[in-house]
Amino acid sequence: MLLAKEEEIRAVTEACGKITSSLNVEEVLLFIQESARKLMDAESSSVILLDSSGENLQIASSTGAKEKQVRGLRFPANKGIAGWVISRGEPLVVNDVAGDKRFYPQIDQISGFRTRSICCAPMIFREKIIGVVEVLNYRRSAGFPEQKLGLFTAFANLAAVALNNALSFDSLSASYRVLHEQLRVDGIYQSRNSGMQKVYELCRKVAPLESTVLLTGESGTGKEVLADMLHRLSDRKDKPLIKVNIAALPGNLVESELFGHEKGAFTGAIARSTGKFELADRGTIFLDEIGELKPDIQVKLLRFLQEHTFERVGGREVIGVDVRIIAATNSDLEKAIAAGAFRTDLYYRLHVVPLHIPPLRERTEDIPLLVDFFIRKFNSELKRKVEGISEPALALLTGHAWPGNIRELENIIERIMVMREGGLIQPADIPGEIRKGFPGSGLSAAPFESTAGASMWEVEKELVEKTLQKNAFNQSRTARELGITLNQLRYRIKRHAIEIRK
Ligand SMILES: Nc1ncnc2c1ncn2[C@@H]1O[C@H](COP(=O)(O)OP(=O)(O)OP(=O)(O)O)[C@@H](O)[C@H]1O
Ligand SMILES: [Mg+2]
Repeated sequence: MLLAKEEEIRAVTEACGKITSSLNVEEVLLFIQESARKLMDAESSSVILLDSSGENLQIASSTGAKEKQVRGLRFPANKGIAGWVISRGEPLVVNDVAGDKRFYPQIDQISGFRTRSICCAPMIFREKIIGVVEVLNYRRSAGFPEQKLGLFTAFANLAAVALNNALSFDSLSASYRVLHEQLRVDGIYQSRNSGMQKVYELCRKVAPLESTVLLTGESGTGKEVLADMLHRLSDRKDKPLIKVNIAALPGNLVESELFGHEKGAFTGAIARSTGKFELADRGTIFLDEIGELKPDIQVKLLRFLQEHTFERVGGREVIGVDVRIIAATNSDLEKAIAAGAFRTDLYYRLHVVPLHIPPLRERTEDIPLLVDFFIRKFNSELKRKVEGISEPALALLTGHAWPGNIRELENIIERIMVMREGGLIQPADIPGEIRKGFPGSGLSAAPFESTAGASMWEVEKELVEKTLQKNAFNQSRTARELGITLNQLRYRIKRHAIEIRK
């Protein structure tokens, strides 16, 4: 007897190890059903779960030759032996189903087997019944011994825990993926700078329209981010947004990249290829660095803008697609026009809605918002727990000229957070090149580097105050003398609560 008990414990322990070895729902279901069959020495087994309404039972997993037919089958939750077990919350052995009124024969009709005996136990998790585990014999006349019912019930409860863990893990991973995705594409779409506010406002207005948009701005100001935003706020959001960086393509391949080519159109064109315009059908195409487009392709793009048609390279068929164009450039297209490198007619076609993104140094008010956003982003990406940035460290960042704009700021925050695990970002974390660029007007970099964070803050305040006084509180002159923009000066006046005397 003792031996038998030991044997049982060993079998349950083994089954338990198996069903908790995975967090994948499908795998866990499979392991439950396999372990149940082994534990009860049965011919077949299934896991039957209550659906969310609690009104139906569904066969979630099942072994046997007719597994495919049986799997996914639904039946009312008050039917059959499973239904009885669910309603009572008690296990049940029926060794002669033919003579039992509770038996629900529909499933046998589908599987083509004749069930002889069934053993069924409820899966209970936190006092809630989530389904049943069922084992059955159809060939063998041998039934299931009543003595094993306790063991099987214990197993079904462990199975409920294992399945619940897998389901929770699944839903957590799904929401994690969604959040991660949002974090990846999302940016700061608000600004404290009036110029940038107008850009976002116009962007929201024009996004749902069909108009061609031309985005201009220095490198790293966020033209691509804005193109993403335009597409996502349009009715085309469920269709593709195809991005083509003209400058990144070898000149002789731009045309076939954009418009596709027929087989043999040129050396290397072994098969017909679909161009980006066709791929973007009913969606949006983002033509980055449009200023790099060669004159012959400018003509082709112009025709597309006028007629929405084109021909593949080496082809005659006229192809029409419905594509919205967003173009971007960080070069001065007007200069290119003056130099004869860019067609005026194309320029006007693209210039329907121009959106100019100001450089970061002209909207330093936004640096705190952006820094905050990047801290959150890299906390997630680098698994850090950085809580924010100290005022003096932020002062160093707002004082920098940011020639690389938002991209540079993002890189700097990432660099800082590679080194820092938590707490507040301090002046000492800020890379030397940014501290050196601090508008010290006459002050050398060295004392700044050796100055502790708090006094840096004071140095800035004093410097601004003194320079203002010296210039009789004329802010334009003060800004010029300090080598910062008027906006940057106003920001510092506000931050340090400096009193302006007239
Ligand atoms: N509003 C924003 N919020 C958050 N991050 C931003 C924002 N704008 C830009 N960025 C980030 O700054 C970086 C540069 O942005 P983006 O690539 O859009 O600039 P760009 O103007 O296209 O630059 P380039 O002319 O060099 O191609 C990206 O990593 C982007 O995620
Ligand atoms: Mg870009």
